[in-house]
Amino acid sequence: MKILVVGGGGREHAIIKKIKENISVEKIFALPGNGGIALDAECVNIGATEIDKICDFAAENAIDYAIVAPDDPLVLGCVDALNEKGIKCFGPDKAAAIIEGSKVFSKNLMKKYNIPTAEYETFDDASEALKYLETAKIPTVIKADGLALGKGVIIAQTREEAKAAVVEIMENGKFGASGNNIVIEEFLTGPEVSVLAFTDGITLVPMVSSMDHKRIGDNDTGLNTGGMGTIAPNPCYTKEMAEICMEKIFLPTMAAMKAENRTFKGCLYFGLMLTPEGPKVIEYNCRFGDPETQVVLPLLESDLLTVMMAVTDEKLAECEVKFSDKNACCVILASKGYPEAYEKGKEITIDDSVADSVYVAGAKVEDGKLLTNGGRVLGVTAVSDTLESAINDAYKKLEKVNFEGGYFRHDIGAKALKIQKGGDVLGI
Ligand code: AMP
Ligand code: GLY
Repeated sequence: MKILVVGGGGREHAIIKKIKENISVEKIFALPGNGGIALDAECVNIGATEIDKICDFAAENAIDYAIVAPDDPLVLGCVDALNEKGIKCFGPDKAAAIIEGSKVFSKNLMKKYNIPTAEYETFDDASEALKYLETAKIPTVIKADGLALGKGVIIAQTREEAKAAVVEIMENGKFGASGNNIVIEEFLTGPEVSVLAFTDGITLVPMVSSMDHKRIGDNDTGLNTGGMGTIAPNPCYTKEMAEICMEKIFLPTMAAMKAENRTFKGCLYFGLMLTPEGPKVIEYNCRFGDPETQVVLPLLESDLLTVMMAVTDEKLAECEVKFSDKNACCVILASKGYPEAYEKGKEITIDDSVADSVYVAGAKVEDGKLLTNGGRVLGVTAVSDTLESAINDAYKKLEKVNFEGGYFRHDIGAKALKIQKGGDVLGI
């Protein structure tokens, strides 16, 4: 089979490495891929949002199956366009991808179907939002409606900060049209859990849970990033919690999307906060998370491509989806300066002994050399029997990967380990 993967980050590298395990896969194209992915797939210089070009490429190259991984092509309708060309895909259509594409949509969906989430108001007018903030409870959370590269959420600790965020988003156009509408919501507390789930709209199968580390600095300090590392499973997410989430959040969400004529087929990502009142949805994503995928897929024992195709054919119920009971840890190596300005073009060296464990996110090949080409450059994953050994192994492997100015957090998994050893779950 010839497979096409749309996207070019660490998540896509993890998906590609996993589907390569299927012996019927003859060829994988990555559009656009990156210099590291080029070791595992043929990269083609077509951007992930160049939908017409993606469709032409797929038709010309007799692609049997396409996997659309990033949020923007999904929200733009890449799956619809490929389906029109007769190409089967993994990923939601445009109507369903709105669950990530519009926070106003997803909040209203949760309210309508009684799915637990933070209390909120929506605004399409800055002066109304500013008026509301005069009396809103502080801290408060301001969210741009549309996609904003993971940066559209502002936690305001003071009324002034909240008002400034509204002005920045709605009047100064910080996130462009994504900020024409905003959500202002209640500030929640509690540990965060990411749960990715396969769903074909009829059946929903959650994958192993994970924990992202979003801040740039150790001990969760500094600016928010796309994610500096992950561990799986997440020790806060007990079996009892999983049952509650399935009953109160996951299945109701699948049913709600179907009832709205927006049946979701693909990977549905639940960003959850385990509040003292129970689990609540912080966000939905219409795709695999990055870097959650880099710990979740290495723990998948079933064949990924078979599961994906079962989702497409609405036969997930007949498919085995099995995860190992081991632990995984992924540490991201980023360019110095990220998430603000950083230099590119530093040579990356990866020791052969760890090449299988490296997922490349931001690199290009020039004159036969692998060079940094992004903020988050790569992730290194280790799988082991215990969380502690997975963390230790990931950091040991990281020593075998180098580039000038490489920056990483030293405490990926430390909080999870503390919780596992009996630490206070809600007080973290
Ligand atoms: P999001 O992009 O929606 O995942 O938000 C980014 C981060 O902001 C989340 O991972 C949370 O840490 C935080 N966050 C979002 N919404 C809330 C909320 N209502 N209360 C507290 N923290 C939040
Ligand atoms: N790691 C969070 C996300 O993929 O949105």
